[in-house]
Amino acid sequence: MRNFYITTPIYYPSAKLHIGHAYCTTIADSVARYHRLAGDDVFFLTGSDEHGQKIQQKAEEQGVTPLEYVDGIVAGFQNLWKKLNISNNDFIRTSEKRHEKVVQEIFNRIYEKGDIYKGSYKGLYCTPCESYWTELQLDENGCCPDCHRPVQEVAEEAYFFKISKYSDRLLQYIEENPDFIQPVSRRNEMINFIKQGLEDLCISRTSFDWGIPVPIDSKHVIYVWFDALTNYLTPIGFLDDKEKFEKFWPANIHLVGKEIVRFHTIIWPCILMALDLPLPKQVYGHGWLVVDGTKMSKSLGNVVDPIALIDKYGEDTIRYFLLREINLGQDGNFSELALVQRINSDLANDLGNLLHRTLSMVKKYQDGVIVAPEGRSEIDESLINDAMEAVKSFEDGMEKMEISNVIKAVWGFISRANKYIDETAPWALAKDETKKQELANVMYNLTESLRIISALVSPFIPATAEKVWKQLNIEGEFANVRLSDIKAWGGTPAGMTVGTPEQLFPRIELEDKKSDKEAAKKAAAEAKAAKKAKREAQKAMEAAKRAAAEANKE
Ligand code: MSP
Repeated sequence: MRNFYITTPIYYPSAKLHIGHAYCTTIADSVARYHRLAGDDVFFLTGSDEHGQKIQQKAEEQGVTPLEYVDGIVAGFQNLWKKLNISNNDFIRTSEKRHEKVVQEIFNRIYEKGDIYKGSYKGLYCTPCESYWTELQLDENGCCPDCHRPVQEVAEEAYFFKISKYSDRLLQYIEENPDFIQPVSRRNEMINFIKQGLEDLCISRTSFDWGIPVPIDSKHVIYVWFDALTNYLTPIGFLDDKEKFEKFWPANIHLVGKEIVRFHTIIWPCILMALDLPLPKQVYGHGWLVVDGTKMSKSLGNVVDPIALIDKYGEDTIRYFLLREINLGQDGNFSELALVQRINSDLANDLGNLLHRTLSMVKKYQDGVIVAPEGRSEIDESLINDAMEAVKSFEDGMEKMEISNVIKAVWGFISRANKYIDETAPWALAKDETKKQELANVMYNLTESLRIISALVSPFIPATAEKVWKQLNIEGEFANVRLSDIKAWGGTPAGMTVGTPEQLFPRIELEDKKSDKEAAKKAAAEAKAAKKAKREAQKAMEAAKRAAAEANKE
């Protein structure tokens, strides 16, 4: 049995999470679920990154303590993950005592080693982004290159971590381990970045106090990235469970957004080297999700709330869309129209119909009973081959996290099974008494295909996968199904009775969407016309006033 440890970034509780955050966690969840299916011992971690000046400021604005402030938002994160059927094994909050102990221990160990020293920090700081910048990095207006807001000059006593000491070792590690940074484009970026020379990292602050105190100097709190990155060690027993720690460290995959690959492939490995710990096997930088072609932002008012979408369409449809539509390393687009189209074509039509047609025919032609197959036609052989090919593509692709391609391959097989119905025409076989066994074979093959499909779709749409399994009515718990159970054809037991067919996904009328759009267009045009009329009325009033004044003067 392999051990498998996967993490998401820990999210900032500075606002509610949007569909972009849901994207990252859904990817990690599907990979974790695949590995459980493959029989691995999985630890899947997500959490919240709660410290820092920005949170402290937000809490002050609202007149609450930082902890009170984050408690509410983090409860929202946890609710979202529950609604999205995220199967994390733990949820780490950096404000927890267990994490404070880990961070302080790490600080002490590295300090004693001589790799942390006290110095003075002068820098240009962007509070919203919690980032320091050098003069050269600022944008053309002298503002933060990320959010383009003004930066503040700060100088304060601070502790530094000697990153520079580890840069050669890090470069060597990256060069010797081509899989460490994925995709390759990110790897090249990081190599260039390191070659330009690394500066020591400032890891403490005195200008705010919402953070973990530096153990040797209570004036200071630990600055966010040192506190944040070490979250990956806390829940796997770094301090208190040696066996668990050895089982799961080094992590197999830190899945992160492309803009934080740098922190995970430079700062984090250096901290680990200073601790004499092995480095994570892979840091994967995924692309960003934009909405209708535009970056999501509060000011544009185009931030998509995943909870509202889940309430409207159900969690599996959102999961499916995110995983199917976007190639992992690239940016991708979210649009509600595209979501509805995917629901209708892939989920309602392809998968939903296959199940419904199959179960209805088994009911109609064989009283719901699965009869043992005898002999195989050429068409049967080709279906079985395709099923085994799909299982193989699924396994190979999921090992490499080529999720979108895997889904395409699985849906390729679903379409193939639908085509098998047309090719074998069971309705014609049912009319011919001498074709009873042939019909039984077709019913068996379809049911068996669906048994395999239920496992193949389970990492992506877990609740639906279980519904398929339950409607098939195969004995045993779905949670206990393993990849090895679908590597051989014939796992459906003869003699069993299938369940009642129920619709998996209702079709969503595209006409509605169209009329929604038209209504929105009409409303916008009406608002524009109303504004124009108001402006004109105002102008007319002003002209009348002026005319009256002129008349008075005269
Ligand atoms: N707290 C840090 C991470 C520390 S990890 C030790 C952080 N938090 S964040 O809330 O700002 O972002 C968390 C993740 O969400 C990042 O990986 C980021 O790339 C991802 N996303 C934020 N907006 C996104 C999209 N629009 N699309 C996809 N992912 C996006 O950074």
